Amino acid sequence: MIVRSWPARALLALMSLALWLAPGPSLAADVDLPAPQTEGGMGLFEALKKRSSVPGGDFSLAEVTLGELSTVLWAASGLNRGQTGWTVPMAEGLAPYVRIYVAGQEGTFRYDWGGHRLVEVSGENIKARIGGPAFIRKAFYVLVLTTDREILGQLVRGGKDRQDEFAQVLAGAMTQDIYLAAAALSLGTRYIHSMNVEAVKSALGLGPDDYPIALMLLGK
Ligand SMILES: Cc1cc2nc3c(=O)[nH]c(=O)nc-3n(C[C@H](O)[C@H](O)[C@H](O)COP(=O)(O)O)c2cc1C
Repeated sequence: MIVRSWPARALLALMSLALWLAPGPSLAADVDLPAPQTEGGMGLFEALKKRSSVPGGDFSLAEVTLGELSTVLWAASGLNRGQTGWTVPMAEGLAPYVRIYVAGQEGTFRYDWGGHRLVEVSGENIKARIGGPAFIRKAFYVLVLTTDREILGQLVRGGKDRQDEFAQVLAGAMTQDIYLAAAALSLGTRYIHSMNVEAVKSALGLGPDDYPIALMLLGK
């Protein structure tokens, strides 16, 4: 079609410019988390007294807010002293070598502690296909802790067994921080070991040497 009138040609030119300027596939699905709560709130000793696992699937349908999720993730492996100090102790000063994935209704994300944000892994709600007890689907979020072999590989001595031991020690510290933060925020949580490991690996796109260590349910 040949367009001869100048207003029509101007309109077409404007439309092409708009298409050219339009953003391509975006990272809009990544989520910048609000600042975590780092002051006030319940005292440590009260949180220790309240720490417990929520029985089975004893969750309501109430939403865990992004602010609450932000605080729980920060407690689990956020920066607390500049760029190389974390809420949990890391061997040999390495960066966190256990990753946290967040599985929720709106998709699956990896926690990026450096940017304190969620990076989209997929738009899929994977809660129903990661195995384990059926009640995990009732949790608003399921946090999945996995090894990060790329960082574990930087440990100076020892092979894969030592890397696995270190990852499990770190997962223990992280899950206890999650328990305490959840108690302080009056959220329910529960450590879950039983899951379909292969299904989780595939849902998260883990490398062949990485594996999920634990699930932490989070809900109200
Ligand atoms: C290493 C470990 C593995 C666990 N695995 C499961 C599990 O697969 N399923 C489950 O329902 N609870 C699991 N739990 C939660 C425990 O059953 C729970 O912590 C225990 O009943 C003690 O309750 P409390 O945390 O309220 O003190 C696990 C806890 C730990 C520490």
